[in-house]
Amino acid sequence: MVDLEVKIGGITLKNPVTTASGCFGYGLEYTDFLDISRLGAIFTKATTGEPREGNPSPRMAETPMGMINSVGLQNKGVDHFIEHIYPHLSAYDTHFIVNVSGSTVEEYVEVASKIDVLEKIPGIELNISCPNVKEGGMVFGTDPVSARKVIRAVREAYHKTLIVKLSPNVTSIKDFALIAQEEGADSVSLINTLLAMAIDAERRKPLIARITGGLSGPAVKPIALRMVWEVAQAVEIPVIGLGGISSATDVIEFMLAGATAVQVGTANFIDPAISLKILEGIIDYMERHGFSSVKELTGALEI
Ligand code: SIN
Repeated sequence: MVDLEVKIGGITLKNPVTTASGCFGYGLEYTDFLDISRLGAIFTKATTGEPREGNPSPRMAETPMGMINSVGLQNKGVDHFIEHIYPHLSAYDTHFIVNVSGSTVEEYVEVASKIDVLEKIPGIELNISCPNVKEGGMVFGTDPVSARKVIRAVREAYHKTLIVKLSPNVTSIKDFALIAQEEGADSVSLINTLLAMAIDAERRKPLIARITGGLSGPAVKPIALRMVWEVAQAVEIPVIGLGGISSATDVIEFMLAGATAVQVGTANFIDPAISLKILEGIIDYMERHGFSSVKELTGALEI
């Protein structure tokens, strides 16, 4: 028996394996494939103040060892979430963490305040890193002044665990992690997708209608790992690592680099039950290497 529990702010996760926003719906869509109650947490699809149609199609393209998306925060809005999704969540013994997005500081605050009163939601992930919208998202997360402003405003309005999801599309991601910490965030998650594009040479057209999108999948993993390492060296708050994780070995690498927990994203599109297979692999690794608590792995890289 190994101890898999980890803590992110005020949330105790039964294990460090969670699913990434935008790659696992609200979790409810996946109950035919796996027992979602075995997950450490589920990060929901991004939620905004008003419903959004998202970007025009095509908005997904496969690339070598990865994919580009330009979904554009399509969702039915926070009120729909509260009325139609939230009532179903209490049937499951895992944490649901709502990914909160918006175009303005006021919209972020509005969504966060509405989520604050929901008993079954112990935390939010503040999305200041979506690369697929004209306003909000990465526009906030790549400018230190705007990032500070939105994190500060949400921190004032939101009283539970606040996780800030960081953009890799900056020169120094640790500067943004430090801003999040200074403004009272309980954790940072990284990385969101890398701004990218793909071209169909035969048609001489972009593969994505909006031309650019966010790259995810194994192609980004070495970059994500480096960024998790840099951020974990710089901050005291727990780091949640993501970016191309598709095996237990990937998770171990992220934890050795300093992550306390991880999110599995794009790999869910290949195998919807991958996260629990990854969990089994982590237990196997711990047993083979004599670790009794998964916490011992965080930052245990030998240099
Ligand atoms: C999207 O909806 O475009 C993706 C969300 C994100 O990258 O945060």
